[in-house]
Amino acid sequence: MTAPPLRFRRVGEADLARIMEIEAAGFLHPWSERMLRSELSHAWSVVLGAAEEAPGPERLIGYVIYWLVHDEVHVLNVATAPEARRRGVGRALLEEALAHGRRKACRLVTLEVRRSNAPAQGLYRAMGFRQVGVRPGYYAEEREDAIVMTLDLDPR
Ligand SMILES: CC(C)(COP(=O)(O)OP(=O)(O)OC[C@H]1O[C@@H](n2cnc3c(N)ncnc32)[C@H](O)[C@@H]1OP(=O)(O)O)[C@@H](O)C(=O)NCCC(=O)NCCS
Repeated sequence: MTAPPLRFRRVGEADLARIMEIEAAGFLHPWSERMLRSELSHAWSVVLGAAEEAPGPERLIGYVIYWLVHDEVHVLNVATAPEARRRGVGRALLEEALAHGRRKACRLVTLEVRRSNAPAQGLYRAMGFRQVGVRPGYYAEEREDAIVMTLDLDPR
């Protein structure tokens, strides 16, 4: 399906309830409100939301959380509301993060993903990320491995 026209904007305190709703639908161990608030407070952290361009009240349908540190974009989290998946929202959010990184002269994007998370790995591979390592038992609750993936950011 074609990607819907999306509007991207920084997430604020008023969006936390909706972000936590999407978190809860997407993860076995969703981030807590405290963790999300802490990302909103760091100068190096970006919480970017996506909403569909549609009449009526705005509704966030996805978000990405990333850090800009030196020449690196580190993606901590990306999620799309279940009803909006496979419509290009996750890819569009990551593209926004990459574009921001390029504007800040970043050269590398890094992330960790659960070994069992095939949808996320599918998204990252589709965007050109490559597996560069494994952190054994990184996700402590299930002792699940993290796959470390990176993407070189060429200036455009
Ligand atoms: C992973 C996630 C963010 C993908 O978001 P999305 O908006 O559905 O992804 P997109 O529609 O942008 O997908 C782009 C491409 O990624 C790949 N992809 C996305 N979902 C996939 C799936 N379930 N299986 C395989 N590949 C998938 C495909 O190549 C897809 O392109 P296509 O639809 O043309 O085949 C979403 O499934 C999600 O929120 N999952 C729960 C939270 C999560 O695990 N986040 C990742 C944390 S590391």
